[in-house]
Amino acid sequence: MKTENLIEKAKDARKLSYSPYSKFAVGAALLCKDGQVIAGANIENASYPLCICAERNALYSAMLRGYKKSDFLALAIVADTPEACAPCGACRQVISELFPKEGEIIMANLKGAVVKSNIAKLLPFAFSEEDLK
Ligand code: THU
Repeated sequence: MKTENLIEKAKDARKLSYSPYSKFAVGAALLCKDGQVIAGANIENASYPLCICAERNALYSAMLRGYKKSDFLALAIVADTPEACAPCGACRQVISELFPKEGEIIMANLKGAVVKSNIAKLLPFAFSEEDLK
């Protein structure tokens, strides 16, 4: 799937955001090797720390459908930010565990900015299961 199409899917997912507190809607679209695209949006709560980001919702939703790390190709993230929207630190940690290190992370905004990266660049020196041994 083309980058622009995956970003469009993330924009569609963003419409499902429940963000009455921050009023900051984020969408994510996770492309799997079988062509499936799993959506994610941020879902907030009156108890603020319970808010969950779009990226984590997409990854958790995919896992609950039976997908695993090696099934993922790309993750697009979009929000109405001045520059391409980067994943927060908590999401970077979750991405580093559940998403392949060579997978493409596509950061975008509503104005057409697109930045591509990967989790090795976004979270160097990550804490991982290796550290628990
Ligand atoms: N948010 C995301 O969904 N993804 C990010 O990477 C950054 C932040 C959400 C969390 C919260 O609902 C709102 O954006 C404001 O922080």
